Amino acid sequence: MDIEKFQKNLIEWYKKEGRDLPWRHTRDPYAIWVSEIMLQQTQVDTVKKYYTRFLRTLPDIASLAEADEDLVFKLWEGLGYYRRVRHMQEAARQIMTEYGGHFPETYDTIIRLKGIGAYTSSAISSIAFGQEKGVIDGNTLRILSRIYDRQDNIALEKTKKAYQLLMDELIQGTDPSMFNQGMMDLGAGICTPRHPDCEHCPVRSFCKAHAAGTECLLPVNIKN
Ligand code: ADE
Repeated sequence: MDIEKFQKNLIEWYKKEGRDLPWRHTRDPYAIWVSEIMLQQTQVDTVKKYYTRFLRTLPDIASLAEADEDLVFKLWEGLGYYRRVRHMQEAARQIMTEYGGHFPETYDTIIRLKGIGAYTSSAISSIAFGQEKGVIDGNTLRILSRIYDRQDNIALEKTKKAYQLLMDELIQGTDPSMFNQGMMDLGAGICTPRHPDCEHCPVRSFCKAHAAGTECLLPVNIKN
């Protein structure tokens, strides 16, 4: 696989066809963090409105750390999963005390914050700080299964680990923010579960499943 060509095709497509979303106009780690936490369980269209209002009211880490809990919950009302915002406020306080108010910049430090797992730490570290850390979720597991025509059961932790290594290889030497968000958009709009739009796929020439006609049989997802 010519990785550079794969990256180039994906990123050129992303620049032209990628979604124009409010959190894609900033490199502020705090704003990106807010968007990623909201996006954990909520659709993009819903998040847009909440994101803008949240940042207008609480524009930085210090304001979230100090905010009245009632206000924070009010800003979250309707998004559900309130544990997310409680954890965010705890993490904001953690950043104030442990990092002097500066958002930590690496995958390994970001993941130690309350409420942040592997996906969110990869997203923030790549988008805000340019770290070469690939995002692994349902979309990227499906894309990789198809690109490599692999039958690994994506429900298994060992598959996620193996695919994390693949993603981290594919992201080397390119723009990590655009690469990851390009993969997200590819999964959302082109490499969809049931009817992938291979005709418009920027990386179809790399796709072993497309060549074999197996794209609709992948990924293998067997939950026990
Ligand atoms: N879902 C999670 N993170 C996202 C992002 N940065 N852009 C679009 N969808 C997402």
